Amino acid sequence: MADPSDLRVDGPRLRRDLDTLAQIGRRRGGGISRTGFSTLDDQARQWYVDRCRQARLTVRTDGLGNMFARPEGVDPAKPAVWSGSHIDTVPDGGPLDGALGTVAALECVRRLAETGTELARPVEAVVFSDEEGNYGHLLGSYGVAHGYAEAELAAMTGRDGDRLVDVLAHWRWASGLPTQTRLVPGTMRSFVELHIEQGPHLEAAGTDIGVVTSIVGLGGAELDFVGRADHAGTTSMTMRSDALRAAAEFLTKLPGLAASVGPTAVITCGILTVEPGGANVVPRLARLALDFRDPDRDRLDDLGRVIRAAAEAAGTEHGVKVDWRPARPVEPVPLDPSLRAVIRASAEDLGCTWVDMPSGAGHDSQNIALLAPTAMIFVPSRDGRSHSPQEYTDFDAVERGANVLLRTLVQLTLL
Ligand code: GLV
Ligand code: MN
Ligand code: MN
Repeated sequence: MADPSDLRVDGPRLRRDLDTLAQIGRRRGGGISRTGFSTLDDQARQWYVDRCRQARLTVRTDGLGNMFARPEGVDPAKPAVWSGSHIDTVPDGGPLDGALGTVAALECVRRLAETGTELARPVEAVVFSDEEGNYGHLLGSYGVAHGYAEAELAAMTGRDGDRLVDVLAHWRWASGLPTQTRLVPGTMRSFVELHIEQGPHLEAAGTDIGVVTSIVGLGGAELDFVGRADHAGTTSMTMRSDALRAAAEFLTKLPGLAASVGPTAVITCGILTVEPGGANVVPRLARLALDFRDPDRDRLDDLGRVIRAAAEAAGTEHGVKVDWRPARPVEPVPLDPSLRAVIRASAEDLGCTWVDMPSGAGHDSQNIALLAPTAMIFVPSRDGRSHSPQEYTDFDAVERGANVLLRTLVQLTLL
């Protein structure tokens, strides 16, 4: 039996697995698109489950397709230390956002199993569904931490307008009811997620490991400007109710709105759809998907208010109606101080430098933190790039992060 403090991940295997997963959904320009519940997500899951089987890990799934892997024969009733992340990506994303934490958790669980390391409690690897929120932000982990009501699920649609409940009905990785995914507190002993930083700070400081102190709060809304379609040649500029002009004016206000709430506030419009969509038709509808964030819950609410007021003002100015449909906010959360101390100690034991830092990106961890003591480990991102094909982390840094994760998980089985 290996001494747990000498244990290291199998670096070449970790690298091979990350490289293989990165081929699934890779586009010609190098970016990766594995939207939650898409065919490519399905392929990635099949690959993950095959890798689990090869390592003699048993995989179970819940009604939202969240996947849980643990060594065969381990009593599922025993509260485990969990680690994992997500396997879906944003459109044209990078190879590590989610994939790193998913593959590293699998590597840790299988390394512990194959070395026969005796642990006081099991370590389980998890993959959460649709973290990037095609249907709902941090969808799977929200289901684990809170559960969804039937009506809420029925109202959820993806970017293509398809209903989540219809997708789930055919989704082979979902088993059981999507309304029954909430775990009872105590099922999970603790949770740690390894992730790339997705920002520039670790690289700039030359630091190996970020110990995440808190995760930003996320707000969102679908916003419609509804005007009137008219002929582009015969309708004078003053006679129009141009939905897109109202939206365009509103969009120019976003930097000022964020600044009015505070220096940490950010607002993004990443999707804009115009209907009916003819070059010679005055736009009747401009539909915007908005994402806004702040680490402070009150400021997150303030952001929602000022954004909505600015949309109403732009609508009035251009004679178009405004329909504001807010998404359920995702709470900002502090991460667990005792777990953070274990990560710091593990980093030091492995000769890694570390720094405490907040996360501006959203993570499944922020849902899980409401269920069990939770922490996150960051490794540097080159040039701070992420949600982009340019996302990259040097493999030595990846392996260091995975070893800090492994050591942390082993320590947590003792707590
Ligand atoms: C997840 O990547 C998010 O921050 O939206
Ligand atoms: Mn992401
Ligand atoms: Mn992620």
